[in-house]
Amino acid sequence: AATLREAASATGRFMGTAIADGRLNDPTYTNIASTEFSSVTAENVMKWESIQPNRDQYNFAGADRLMDFAAANGQQVWGHTLVWHSQLPGWVSNGGFGAEELDAIVQDHIGTVVGEYAGEIAYWDVVNEAFNEDGSLRQSVFLNTLGEGYIADAFRYADAADPSAKLCINDYNTEHTNAKSDAMYQLVSGLLAQGVPIDCVGFQMHLILDQYSASDIQSNLQRFADLGLEVVVTELDVRMDVPADQAKLDRQATQYADVVGACVAVDGCTGVTIWGFGDADSWVPDTFPGQGAALPWDDNYQPKPAYNGILEGFGAT
Ligand code: G3I
Repeated sequence: AATLREAASATGRFMGTAIADGRLNDPTYTNIASTEFSSVTAENVMKWESIQPNRDQYNFAGADRLMDFAAANGQQVWGHTLVWHSQLPGWVSNGGFGAEELDAIVQDHIGTVVGEYAGEIAYWDVVNEAFNEDGSLRQSVFLNTLGEGYIADAFRYADAADPSAKLCINDYNTEHTNAKSDAMYQLVSGLLAQGVPIDCVGFQMHLILDQYSASDIQSNLQRFADLGLEVVVTELDVRMDVPADQAKLDRQATQYADVVGACVAVDGCTGVTIWGFGDADSWVPDTFPGQGAALPWDDNYQPKPAYNGILEGFGAT
């Protein structure tokens, strides 16, 4: 295949990337973004603090730029994200609202944002990062004020605003079988039993070089798919201690191939999105000093071995 997008498509899957709004004016960036990917996720511009920074003041400018980019390039859009404890403006997190008012705020936010793009967004991350590592639900203004029913309600509000969008719950460190993914499995099983409109589970997969088991990832994805849900790799990257060297880059390529291959081995795994494509734009160095080189293109937007690793994972080499 000539591109990642074509390689994914040959397996019936999509290949996505997160898009950094601030990079859309660079032709080197947009050339890769438009040709290599069939799906785009807003890295930041659809988050609550960006899209409703003050109460009842919605700002769709950045999201509109992403929608326009996707439309111009025949790409699907993955909406990220509606209810999340992070990048939440202070007026929500510190507002001191009671349950009734916060519920109305959440309903308004979801209804307005999902409604704005109804029929145009293929998937939404409705609830993001709801769990702690031990599988308990994460403390947040939503859990603390509304109780765990906030999760089911968020899906109901999103479904009401756009019945055609696929609605997902998304988290990190859930790709392997562990306490956190067990808790996710219990939660989504319960949501399905209650008839909550959930369609998919997103596995972020912010991975560390050499720390993974492809067979366990595959069987973990499979158990969720066996519930009848789509499963998707939503934010893949593979970070390493920098500087990178050839041996590390080669192992990284194998890891990308193995993870993509695990998705391809599961019928219900419908796509893979990487969390940006060029190392210069990655969130990793800011968050984990001394680590980086996590993406398939280098700081100069030259493809790394990981690029061929992804092709290999899709069976294209
Ligand atoms: O836009 C401002 C800019 O005006 C300002 O000068 C600059 C100074 O720090 O900050 C800029 O905002 C930053 C924003 O990224 C855009 O670059 C924020 O500080 C920074 O916190 C924000 O980081 C994002 C992070 O989520 C926030 O939690 C990363 O780009 C983004 O990649 C990351 O993505 C998350 C997913 O949403 C959820 N899963 C984990 C993933 C990685 O953390």
